[in-house]
Amino acid sequence: MAGEGRPRAAERVSLSAGTHMRGKRILLGVTGGIAAYKSAYLVRELVRAGADVRVVMTEAATEFIAPLTFSALTKQPVGTDLWSRDQATGSAIGTRHIHLATWCDCMLIAPASANTLAKLAHGLSDNLVTVLALACRKPVIVAPTMDADMFLNEATQHNIAVLRERGFGVIPPAEGEHASGLYGPGRLPEVEVIRAFLKKLFDRTAEDLRKVKMLVTAGPTHEPIDPVRYISNRSSGKMGFALALAAAQRGAEVTLVTGPVSLETPRNVKRIDVETAEHMRAAVVKVARQQRVIAMAAAVADYAPALPADRKIKKDGQNGGLELTLKSTPDILGELGRKKRKGTLLVGFALETNDGVSNAKEKLSKKNLDVIVLNAYTAQNPVFGSDRNTVTIIDRKGEEELPSLEKIEVANRILNRIRKLL
Ligand code: C5P
Repeated sequence: MAGEGRPRAAERVSLSAGTHMRGKRILLGVTGGIAAYKSAYLVRELVRAGADVRVVMTEAATEFIAPLTFSALTKQPVGTDLWSRDQATGSAIGTRHIHLATWCDCMLIAPASANTLAKLAHGLSDNLVTVLALACRKPVIVAPTMDADMFLNEATQHNIAVLRERGFGVIPPAEGEHASGLYGPGRLPEVEVIRAFLKKLFDRTAEDLRKVKMLVTAGPTHEPIDPVRYISNRSSGKMGFALALAAAQRGAEVTLVTGPVSLETPRNVKRIDVETAEHMRAAVVKVARQQRVIAMAAAVADYAPALPADRKIKKDGQNGGLELTLKSTPDILGELGRKKRKGTLLVGFALETNDGVSNAKEKLSKKNLDVIVLNAYTAQNPVFGSDRNTVTIIDRKGEEELPSLEKIEVANRILNRIRKLL
């Protein structure tokens, strides 16, 4: 039969494969690594899912895959060089890409090389990818991808931990065989895994607390005995920082007043560092009036030395011991409760070793709070320093006992409750 076996004329077909990314603006940063070639497939799938994708590359990435590939897949120009110029006018083309930082709904860096992760952790901005990551206030997600030994190196692990603490999304690498022949973690995860991560992010970032002004306190306080010694407690600040991060991710305008901790400042959060309960009170009172929500997660010291010495107290001459007179610190939450204005939502935290729920309920009404979060302090739930926590969220209508969860998840559950009460 005439024509049989001959290829048919090309038809225009829709690349669409679902709508779950319809209209989502994704800025993809591609950095140097053998897995860069896989990003082409990733782009294709994101476009098929309805996303609007723009690509920027580091110079090293262009050694592994040509910008033209991404340009053909996205039908958009691809930024590779911060300093490139329009030959006719001499104006900088590269810097025009900066608008992508505000254009996008999220920035995804995949593959994210060890080098780029190190730059991000330190805020370096020497190429288009790092400039845009630094300028972007939307979620930034990295997919660390490199040879297994580079991934497992302490420096890389530290940089990833820093980024995670600041609130970058981290897609853990897959394990398997590497181009080098090594076997281990560091491979770019399957496109499906990355796509699912993004979908979850878009589902979660409903921005349901958009523009809500929220004050969070965190950490312990240090109450000086003399210039070199102090009284404090075991609070790490992790719960308060998680609350600040989660609120900022949901669109709130967050001020974080924190005692001395060693934690990275979450992205898009205004941080104020204080030392003592008195300092914390002053910082809180100063900004309290503008807040819609105030959550006091700090473990403020209840007592402070009444008369801190202005010189180091000598060891000798104390007759083998030292007596300190302590005074009560200001009850910040109590004061906020007394002065509470209509429309302000006040959230307190409590840590009890016994009769938790009844004590917390009593505190809720005594301190004029809207919500109190009870930390269940047990051997299994040490609260302080841990990345997990078991809490009961109590308001005037009832209580919700949560299982042991990551602190960021606990934070989101607390925010869900706050959201309902707003
Ligand atoms: O009464 P209790 O100290 O257990 O209450 C704990 C709550 O009170 C926490 O939210 C904590 O931040 C706050 N607090 C305070 N000022 C203090 C002590 C605790 O605001 N001096």
